[in-house]
Amino acid sequence: MNYLRALRAGRYAALTLLTSVAFGTVAQAAGEVNVYSYRQPYLIKPLLKSFTDKTGIKANVIYAKKGLIERIATEGKNSPADVLLTVDIGRLSGAVTKGISQSVSSATLNKNIPAAYRDPKGNWFGLTRRSRVVYASRARVAQNAITYEELADPKWKGKICIRSGQHAYNVALIASMIAHNGEAKTLKWLEGLKANLSQKPAGNDRAQVKGVYSGTCDIAIGNTYYMAKMQTNEKKPVQKEWAKSVKMLFPNTQGRGAHINISGVVLAKYAPHKDNGVKLMEFLSSVEAQKIYAKVNHEYPVTDGVAWSDLVKSWGTFKADPISLEKIAKLRKKASMMVDKVRFNDGPSS
Ligand SMILES: [Fe+2]
Repeated sequence: MNYLRALRAGRYAALTLLTSVAFGTVAQAAGEVNVYSYRQPYLIKPLLKSFTDKTGIKANVIYAKKGLIERIATEGKNSPADVLLTVDIGRLSGAVTKGISQSVSSATLNKNIPAAYRDPKGNWFGLTRRSRVVYASRARVAQNAITYEELADPKWKGKICIRSGQHAYNVALIASMIAHNGEAKTLKWLEGLKANLSQKPAGNDRAQVKGVYSGTCDIAIGNTYYMAKMQTNEKKPVQKEWAKSVKMLFPNTQGRGAHINISGVVLAKYAPHKDNGVKLMEFLSSVEAQKIYAKVNHEYPVTDGVAWSDLVKSWGTFKADPISLEKIAKLRKKASMMVDKVRFNDGPSS
């Protein structure tokens, strides 16, 4: 395994190197599955432990923040990767575009995962859901309902905080606007939203909520699970204050419902332990694993009938936009081009 490549994997470089060595010696052995994960150890470890306890199949993992799809592509037929775990429809569909996935036909996956959250061709499967919502100031925003369309209303001028328009979470949201409202209306909408920004898009989702807390803006756009990450943040308790300063509004509750994105899984094209890879995928879609996802990361289960975590419940119920994520994937490129066209990331004054 290439040492420099392992170093380039960044934050998890040491772990990557260690695990790579392990892969080199045992990858062909029976009873194993090799996982490449963009998702973090605190979430994936309990899931894999549960899988191993249940099946006896040992799970080897490489964690990284970047470059796993490229790495699998570079490794080609020699790649030890069986499954790739990642977030966002952009990355899932990107894995297919890069040619590193293979189609899976599994009655269990098709039964557990609603059709809207899996690739009709079986190249990717959603495992958890998150919504992209409005975090509104408790002190300064009176209304308790909102639509995405309304974010372009001049009444919000100078009042909205959002991260880069090119971030995958926003690209998917804009793609969903194109799907529902068409290109022309979405372009106008994006120009209106840009005009309402309080500052240049920068920082992550939580930084936008901090903006509401500190008075920079009245509204922030962010994914739902960040509320839990702030509400339970013992390392940085100030984030609990950020969370207290906002209420979560699920947009378009009276209409099509709030935009949904997914985390998910792909079976690698040259998976050396294909059967075990599929078994792991099926396990991750099971009620048992869905409960762990819900509890550990406060995401919405992708399967019906699995209880939400208490924190997630406290944010209230909502209507989810039923549009298929495959449609969103197809419109991502248009959405991204639109972000550039309106020079969204230049902020409100340009
Ligand atoms: Fe995130």
